[in-house]
Amino acid sequence: MVWAVGEGVTQYGVGDEVIVGGVRWDESAPDIRLGTDPTASRSQRAWGYELNHGSFAQFTVVDEYQCHPKPPRLTWEEAGCFLGGGSTSYRMLTGWHPHHVRPGDPVLIWGGSGGLGSMAIQIVNHFGGIPVAVVSDDAKRDHCLRLGAHGVVNRREFTHWGGLPDPDDTAAYGAWLDGARSFGRRFWEVLGERRSPRIVLEHPGRDTLATSVYVCDNAGMVVTCAGTSGYLGHIDLRFLWMFQKRLQGSHAANVRETRAIIDLVAAGRVDPCLSETVPFEEIGSAHQQVYENRHAAGNTAVLVNAPGPGLTGMP
Ligand SMILES: NC(=O)c1ccc[n+]([C@@H]2O[C@H](COP(=O)([O-])OP(=O)(O)OC[C@H]3O[C@@H](n4cnc5c(N)ncnc54)[C@H](OP(=O)(O)O)[C@@H]3O)[C@@H](O)[C@H]2O)c1
Repeated sequence: MVWAVGEGVTQYGVGDEVIVGGVRWDESAPDIRLGTDPTASRSQRAWGYELNHGSFAQFTVVDEYQCHPKPPRLTWEEAGCFLGGGSTSYRMLTGWHPHHVRPGDPVLIWGGSGGLGSMAIQIVNHFGGIPVAVVSDDAKRDHCLRLGAHGVVNRREFTHWGGLPDPDDTAAYGAWLDGARSFGRRFWEVLGERRSPRIVLEHPGRDTLATSVYVCDNAGMVVTCAGTSGYLGHIDLRFLWMFQKRLQGSHAANVRETRAIIDLVAAGRVDPCLSETVPFEEIGSAHQQVYENRHAAGNTAVLVNAPGPGLTGMP
């Protein structure tokens, strides 16, 4: 809830109920004035991560363009849980022309039950694509199918993850290639036809990047926003250049993309996927569970000095 406004604020006033995007930039930065997307501006910083004033607090400080009206039908914890993953997924799937997800496009989604993945499955469906999700546990399969995944692959059926062996070590490299090929064939089986993903939504990084580049369709795109399993990603460049694939970095979302995913959630087209709501006292263990990949499927919300869960407006 807006508690106070500073000079120059025109779109929001005290008492307005808002949800807040997680990136800041300088609207007067020279590159933005020359037309650079603000998320790619040299002035861009992640709010509460590269900058002070994050969201795990009763009071915080934001720029006006970070604010969006809170959809009235959502509870506070629903409204607070989806925007980081939702807006990032939306940009990854729609922001990189010509690789905007199109009707009939097969899309491979790593971590289909995670925050990004849960949103991505629904966004791909919204645009008529065919989402195939990856999980590490069959218990997460139903979550992905309920959200509209066409099919689900369990990555535990494969063992070739991690950095690439040296291509000159033909035995080790051959074993990796066998693993990547089996994974690609599994994708076709689950899809029900022999088509490879036009878009691969990457974020595990070290463990999966080489496979993502290998299984991506000719002239398709691997788009990544993270290195959950490690920051050093190996790829065999031959698969990138010979089949003219694209490896694209993506980070957060601009104001238009952020509003677009909020509108889809507000209209009931995308479920915010709130799985768990924890009190502020449990914020440490909630983060530890994410770190250990033991958290529930979907998104977790934290109540900070809130009167209780389930409220849609201020009491
Ligand atoms: N750049 C940005 O703007 C931005 C924005 C949001 C999030 N992110 C980053 O994106 C990543 C995902 O975020 P999230 O909210 O979806 O996190 P999350 O809810 O923890 O989900 C991550 C998923 O990744 C999968 N995973 C974990 N280790 C893996 C591995 N070694 N190989 C393959 N899959 C693995 C897990 O699924 P399974 O174990 O079931 O496979 C998990 O569900 C995080 O690193 C986050 O920091 C970046």
